This record gives sequence, structure tokens and C-alpha cells, in this order.
Amino acid sequence: MSAVQISHPATRNGSKIVGLGHFRPEQIVTNDDLSKIMETNDEWIQSRVGIAERHVAGDQDTVASMGAIAGGKALADAGLEPSDIDTVIVATCTTESQVPHTSTQIALALDISAPGSFDLNAACAGFCYALAAADHAIRAGSARNVLVVGSEKLTAWTDPVDRATAIIFADGAGAAVVSASDEPGIGPVAWGSDEHQTRAIRIESRDASFIQEGQAVFRWATTAIAPVAIRAVELAGLQLSDIDVLVTHQANLRIVESIAKKLVAAGANPQMRVAKDIVTSGNTSSASIPIALDRMRQAGHVSPGEIVLAVGFGAGLTYAGQVFRCP
Ligand code: UT7
Repeated sequence: MSAVQISHPATRNGSKIVGLGHFRPEQIVTNDDLSKIMETNDEWIQSRVGIAERHVAGDQDTVASMGAIAGGKALADAGLEPSDIDTVIVATCTTESQVPHTSTQIALALDISAPGSFDLNAACAGFCYALAAADHAIRAGSARNVLVVGSEKLTAWTDPVDRATAIIFADGAGAAVVSASDEPGIGPVAWGSDEHQTRAIRIESRDASFIQEGQAVFRWATTAIAPVAIRAVELAGLQLSDIDVLVTHQANLRIVESIAKKLVAAGANPQMRVAKDIVTSGNTSSASIPIALDRMRQAGHVSPGEIVLAVGFGAGLTYAGQVFRCP
């Protein structure tokens, strides 16, 4: 073995979210619009999925363009300049451009010079994975200010007349700026996956669309995810009763409500606010958590400093959750 010693920069105590932003495309598609092109109806969708309408990207909206708008808003919210950002991480599973990857395009669009940049695909759990990656990079001393983006154009990978998927999936982007902090503002991540269900949500080939074994995923989400959320709270050294706001991936309103109910039964405050953004945003995969949180904040339903519990889950099947303070 070589006798030389590898040195490593000093680690930092923690990181915190200092800004949020989101973008929902202009076009709104209602359940009645969908019922004109497939056999479905507003009553079924509202009662089984909880969606009233969703935002759908136009030709001009790409994963990179939507992510750049959300990222720019998060930067402004943080009061930082593009030159302050040293790392860009984009969570997406629907990019139209494998190469160049999306984060480098977003850096170019926002005039962020020479950042560390990478895309990350953990499907609908992607935002929580990317937030953890940002926190880890900052605490390891590899980054100081990270732009984390979740951006998805799910409709580009969805059969527009498949009633099992087209009623659920939508488009949009959400972003957070994560900065070094003496006091940790983001707790440890609880992450994992169930590789035995790897094919439960899939795209078979380049020109194919999403296929989802809806009932199997529904059963998994309503049984496996509440324990992940509880683990994230424990890892942060908190009690469930400390949680002010629950922001789960917006997969299906019945799943959101089932997770919330299980957390309350385990000790969470029944008054804990629960994100139900799916009603007007649909399921936007890795973008759903930052979109939901930013919209709650804009509506005054969550305040700076409050404790947020986020948990993402989806294709893989993969999950991740952590606790953080709202900026
Ligand atoms: O974000 C990634 C993770 N994904 C998820 O978490 C999705 C989890 N799964 C789900 O949210 C639900 O399983 C779906 C929303 C996908 C489907 O809802 P479901 O309650 O599981 O419906 P189902 O597939 O069991 O179908 C129930 C009935 C069937 O009719 P019969 O056989 O009982 O007569 C379907 O043919 O509802 C019918 N159906 C519909 N009817 C009107 C299925 N889809 C529709 C539809 N409109 N869009």
C-alpha cells in the first residue's frame, strides 16, 4: 500500500433550504376534457384519484426550460446570484435530452458559471434523493450553494388516450436552493427501494409510454411509505408531533390521505397540515414535492422555520424522505 495520505476538506455541520420556486405550464386540462378523448369521467377521477385538473406542457416547454424557470425563481427567493451557485442537481425521469444532460442546460439558461452538474433519476422519489445529495455534498465540503431542481414532462411519455396513466400524469418543475448552515436545517435521508417490484412502473422502449400496475403500486404506497416517513423523523431526532407540514409525493389523493392518517395514528398532530396539491397540479413525479410546498407557502399555509416532512416514492419502486425547515 502507498504511504501517502489523501487529504479531504473540512466537513460542515449542515445545510438548509434558503429559497423555493416552481413553474406550472399554462395549459390546463380538466377531467371533462379527458372524458372527450377516452372512456372516463370527472366523478371517477375525483373520487379515485382526487385530481380536478392538471397542467400540461406545450411544445415550447421542455424539462430544461421548465426547470430553469423554477430554478430562477428559487434563486430570486434565496436572494442569491447565479455566481453564488456552485452545483446544479436535476431530478428527472422524463428528460427529452439524455445528452447533454438537463442540469448543464439549466446552468447555461441561468448563467451559472462552471457548476458541478448532474442529473439524477429516482423517478417520483427524485426530489428527496436530490435534496439528500445536495445536503451530503455541502456537509462533505464539496459544495456551498446547490440548486436542486425536480422537472418533468410526463405527458411526453404518456399515451394520451390510456385512461390508466393519462388521467394522472402532468407536467411542471419545482426547485430549491440549498446552502451551507451552522445549524442543520435538513435531516438525514431515509431512502431505499423494493427491487422485486422494479417493473411495476416502466417504459419498455424509447418510443413507448408509461405502463403502471396501478393497484400493486397503490398497495405498496399505502403500506410501505408511512414507515419511511416515521424513520426520517427518527433519524432527525424529532417526534412525529414536531411535524408542522406533511408534503408527500402527489401520486393519488387517496394515497396522500392514507399516509397522513397512518402518521396521525402513530403520534403526528391531527392538525398537521397536509399538501393536497394534486387536486389542481396532477402527478408531476419528481416535481410534485417542491411545487406543492412552494404553493402552500405562497398561500400562507406554511411559514418560514416550520418543520416539513417530505417523502417521495414511485417507479423502481423507490422511496426517500427527510425532515427540513421551510425557508
Ligand atoms: O407516481 C408514481 C406512483 N404511482 C402511483 O402511486 C399510482 C398508484 N395507483 C393508483 O393511483 C390507482 O391504482 C389508479 C389511479 C392508477 C387506478 O385506480 P384504481 O382505483 O386502482 O382503479 P382500477 O385500475 O382498480 O380500476 C377500477 C375500475 C375498473 O372497472 P371494473 O373492472 O371495476 O368495472 C376500471 O376499468 O375502474 C375502471 N377504471 C376507470 N374508470 C373510469 C380504471 N381507470 C378508469 C378511468 N376512468 N380513468
